[in-house]
Amino acid sequence: MIELKFFGHSAVGIKTDAVKILIDPFLEGNPLVKECPESIEVDVICVTHGHGDHVGDTEKLAQKNDALVIAPFELATYLDMKGCTVHPMHIGGARNFDWGRIKLVPALHGSAFIEDGGKIVYTGNPCGFLLTLEGKTIYHAGDTGLSAEMEIIGRMNTIDLALLPIGDNFTMGPDDAAEAVRMLKPKQVVPIHFNTWDVIAQNPDGFAKKVAGMTRVQIIPPGDSIQLT
Ligand code: NI
Ligand code: MN
Repeated sequence: MIELKFFGHSAVGIKTDAVKILIDPFLEGNPLVKECPESIEVDVICVTHGHGDHVGDTEKLAQKNDALVIAPFELATYLDMKGCTVHPMHIGGARNFDWGRIKLVPALHGSAFIEDGGKIVYTGNPCGFLLTLEGKTIYHAGDTGLSAEMEIIGRMNTIDLALLPIGDNFTMGPDDAAEAVRMLKPKQVVPIHFNTWDVIAQNPDGFAKKVAGMTRVQIIPPGDSIQLT
């Protein structure tokens, strides 16, 4: 059984009998998150790109839990220099770990870390993650615009659950996310990256109506979990 917890924004926890994974663990400073990062246990942290609302507490959580950080090469190298244990990958590459399989897929976005003092460190290409755990495939799109690559991802994979941004402004909005659903053909969709701030305010029910008949939309209140069986 897989337990999927939505912390809010793009931060998601995935727990199986074999592994505890966090994706884009932006917890401290995230207006939607109630629990403090200190209480969270994690084995593997997947980071889609170098923006602060995705890297979040990666450094702190990785060091405290002795967790492995999986990220695109440039971002992984940056986090390695910050003292994290990393496994660099890159777009198109997949790897079987003893707890499951991860593949990095394209995301249409930017990736840079803004350090204290305002210095911008570019961290390569952003990505999405395809995770295969206990025979289920989960797609976390990261931050992305609508892209034709989604058609290939949908054709080559049976996606049990897709986490898709719907907030607009920085990523796909509801109309483009609905088109992504047409291409990806996921069994279920969890909308992410909305309502964290006013600039990405969005009614997820409106998105759910647009894709009714194509997939099942699960709107998870921040802090709640669902089970994938
Ligand atoms: Ni971003
Ligand atoms: Mn973002």
